[in-house]
Amino acid sequence: MPTPDTLMHVARTVATEAATLVIDGRARAEVAATKSSPIDIVTQMDLAAERLLRERLAEFRPDDAILGEEGDDSPGTSGITWVLDPIDGTVNYLYGLPHFAVSVAAVEGEPTPRTWSPLAGAVHDGSGVLWSASKGGGAWRDGERLVRTHAPALDGTLLATGFQYVAERRVRQGEIVTEMLGRVRDIRRLGAAAVDLCLVAAGQLDAYYEHGLHPWDFAAAALIAQEAGVRVAGIDGGPPDERLTIAAMPEVWEHLREALVEAGADLSWGAP
Ligand code: IPD
Repeated sequence: MPTPDTLMHVARTVATEAATLVIDGRARAEVAATKSSPIDIVTQMDLAAERLLRERLAEFRPDDAILGEEGDDSPGTSGITWVLDPIDGTVNYLYGLPHFAVSVAAVEGEPTPRTWSPLAGAVHDGSGVLWSASKGGGAWRDGERLVRTHAPALDGTLLATGFQYVAERRVRQGEIVTEMLGRVRDIRRLGAAAVDLCLVAAGQLDAYYEHGLHPWDFAAAALIAQEAGVRVAGIDGGPPDERLTIAAMPEVWEHLREALVEAGADLSWGAP
């Protein structure tokens, strides 16, 4: 069994290679397809980056499984699954905004967020920063170890969130965020869940929550935040999942969860 540190180095290598491809190809990016709604887009660069990630992982780790945003699941025999988002924040990418990222995680166990155990991850963002973590080995922003210490109370929290692509859900999410606006320092919607979680790891955002994320949106970045000292969990305090992901310092996490429930968040409506 490879160590989490070994897997982190693989994740860093392939995420950096894919990020180089997508950053170099940005000027040529165009919409290739839509998914859950007409505004849920895929560019040809998402597809090219996922192909590159799959090819390189097949060279480094031929016996591992792959779960990618833009391709079919590939089975493996090692018990390790790579969870890939070739471009998180595709709309930002298309518009030339820097908040996008390539996200690569290695997880062990059944490849669903409630059952897997994250081992390693890397998030290479569009501004050139490489974020990474390994289980028990800490979190890193390029070569700098990340350790979150500052935990303002809820009313002093700079809180990030994001929105799904399905219109009715976005309206519900908007109602919740309206309530939350009166409870925190301010709200940010930067447009890439993986980057949001890395910024929470670094203390550049205090906290983050979102309903309806896909596993590849948060697989790597949730580990990065956790290894920096952030609590990342779902609405019931268990592992985060597609229904709700809440990331905050342990001292504030429960206050944020309670505020979200008071604002209308519940277990039933965020599920994909
Ligand atoms: C999206 C981004 C966005 C979040 C959405 C995600 P994509 O990922 O992370 O910030 O609000 O929920 O789907 O579609 O750009 O890979």
